Amino acid sequence: MEWWTYLSFAAVIYVATIVSLRMLYPEKHLDWSIIDETQRTFPESFQWGVATASHQIEGGNSNNWTEFETRSNIEESGDACDHWNRWQEDFQLLEELGVATYRFSLEWSRIEPEKGHWNAEALQQYSDMIDDLCRRGIRPMITLHHFSHPQWFEQREGFLDKDNIGLWVHYCEKVFERYCDRVTDWCTVNEPEVFSIMGYFMKMFPPGKRSLRSTLTVMRNVVQAHGIVYHRLKQHNPVCRIGLAKNVTLFDPLKRWNLLHWTTSAALNFVWNGAIVRALKKGTMFGKKMPLVRGSLDFIGLNYYTHVLTSPFLPQTNEVNFPKRSHETMTDFGYPMYAEGLERAVKMLETLEVPIEITENGTADQHDTLRPIHLQRHVWMVSELLQQGHDIRSYYHWSLMDNFEWAEGYSLRFGLYHVDYQTQVRTLRQSGSIYRDIINEASQD
Ligand code: BGC
Repeated sequence: MEWWTYLSFAAVIYVATIVSLRMLYPEKHLDWSIIDETQRTFPESFQWGVATASHQIEGGNSNNWTEFETRSNIEESGDACDHWNRWQEDFQLLEELGVATYRFSLEWSRIEPEKGHWNAEALQQYSDMIDDLCRRGIRPMITLHHFSHPQWFEQREGFLDKDNIGLWVHYCEKVFERYCDRVTDWCTVNEPEVFSIMGYFMKMFPPGKRSLRSTLTVMRNVVQAHGIVYHRLKQHNPVCRIGLAKNVTLFDPLKRWNLLHWTTSAALNFVWNGAIVRALKKGTMFGKKMPLVRGSLDFIGLNYYTHVLTSPFLPQTNEVNFPKRSHETMTDFGYPMYAEGLERAVKMLETLEVPIEITENGTADQHDTLRPIHLQRHVWMVSELLQQGHDIRSYYHWSLMDNFEWAEGYSLRFGLYHVDYQTQVRTLRQSGSIYRDIINEASQD
């Protein structure tokens, strides 16, 4: 055969592959100009909430993050929103929004500041907070690990060393025993993929390392730790619902005719999403068997923000604007608003065959120009998905108020309430009142 015959043959295979990929994995985009986002319906049982995390709002912490903040080039969390002292005022804000549920995390470094030393005051304060929420008719959902942990745990290499898992499990049992009489819903870990990739590959979270091997080890150990905690806590109280919060970022090829772009997005999708979903379904991860992880969920938390358009030339930090489709709008975080992606994220997680709680969704938007439409579109998508029969039980907006946005410090604002960090005054944004109306309207349906 002539060389050009080979070439033509290769070209036909290439085109056929690309055409099949494009058909198999369409990247849905809606014409929002013909959609009325206010046309939405929700079942009476649907729960509306907001979410926060301890290190992002409490202030005055001393943990793996504060240590990292002092030795890296990021803003220090400092007093944050001073929520540790102002929690009652902040719970009043929850009531004003009319939410039925509130997701927050416990700060392990406050509760166990030294290994084996339990801080009775901190335990009591969290207990008072839970009581107060219940009194206000707001259901608490607790996250047991949301990126921060005590420095003594970090010094022992944290989740990098599987022998440390027991230390976290012990802490989880302790707080669970104390609060499970009043708290039914528990998220073991927040975003194992973000925690491991940002901390051990992107150098943007503590401990600020770059090692693929460590990244995969930490991801596996955190998922394993979740599995162990799930079974231990269920033994204490089988009525509680336990799950984890999975960040689903969709990786789509930047150029949909480029096979290299498809290959990169498939690889990233596997490491970020597929490996964890598979572990929860089959009990294996990166070649290791983890039988305790299989089926270790009463619900799956979905944190959905965006899709990332990928090519082999990936940014090594997130100090850049990610690419976007020409019609898409950029958020302040430098990634596009892509509400349509919620459908694929839900379909991915429902293969786990447990109810879905949307444990986070929101946007960084300093001037609150994008957030109103961002919120409306995502809420409309939830309504559509419910009508198609997907089992989604709740929607938690990220976040109640502006807060410490990890490596981005205070530069990014995610709140339904604006926070003036000088005076600690909270002010409801327009998007906040839209959310309040959405909740109000849904309860009258
Ligand atoms: C994290 C939050 C964070 C939010 C916005 C999520 O991945 O759980 O802690 O603030 O994204 O970036």
